[in-house]
Amino acid sequence: MTTKLNVNIDHVATIREARKTIEPSIITAAVICEQAGAHGITVHIRQDRRHIQDKDISLLREVVTTYLNVEMAANEEMLNIAVDTKPDAVSLVPENPNEITTEGGLDVLGNLENVRMAVNRLRETGIFASIFIDPDEKQIEAAHKIGAQQVELCTAEYAEFTLGAKSSHGEGFERANQELSRIKRAANFAKSLGLIAAAGHGLTYRNVGALAAIPEITEFNIGHNIISRSIFVGLNKAVKEMIEAVRNGSKN
Ligand code: PXP
Repeated sequence: MTTKLNVNIDHVATIREARKTIEPSIITAAVICEQAGAHGITVHIRQDRRHIQDKDISLLREVVTTYLNVEMAANEEMLNIAVDTKPDAVSLVPENPNEITTEGGLDVLGNLENVRMAVNRLRETGIFASIFIDPDEKQIEAAHKIGAQQVELCTAEYAEFTLGAKSSHGEGFERANQELSRIKRAANFAKSLGLIAAAGHGLTYRNVGALAAIPEITEFNIGHNIISRSIFVGLNKAVKEMIEAVRNGSKN
């Protein structure tokens, strides 16, 4: 089975919001990503609306023909947006207003009833319910218990360690490998419970291959690295190169 790539286009909107203007258009970005072969488009509507705006979600819903995945906090305001616009999937994420980016997985165990209500609301509306969590068995079990259909495993730590892995002997290399094993075990466990396993956060052309070799991971959500590369090579090429990096990894 092909491992899917959803391109997170938040940072196209980050550039637009830097001037509060109309360009670059995230609609054009979504279309280019789809034409380049992306399996879906991911956006994160944050409480502070630092990049994606409410209107973007409605417009993307009209334009995206592949798969629209919206990341959001599990609260009333956000769930109302999901119910009104009906993306194909919602990924519930934790949110801290002062963070630069999402800092880790959602603590499902610690917020069981709130997350359960959110999952129920999504599923009643026919929206596929995913939860972004750390690669931890207890969290995966909790996500399963409250009816999530997918877990997106947080790869932030793995990604951090790969940045420090300058040689195949360094500490970063070992820690990245340990984290890789943890993600592999988590994906296996999720699958054994009947959950679909996705992964994302901090992934790059350089570090995605080892994760793509894990057959239980069937989907990646990748943003910053693709949008960064697109500045130099164009979005179409940047997306194609990431699809290729995922494909090469999954052959191993
Ligand atoms: N998955 C989730 C749940 C995220 O919150 C993010 C960042 O918005 C991503 C994937 C994409 O991370 P990156 O931009 O580092 O590729």
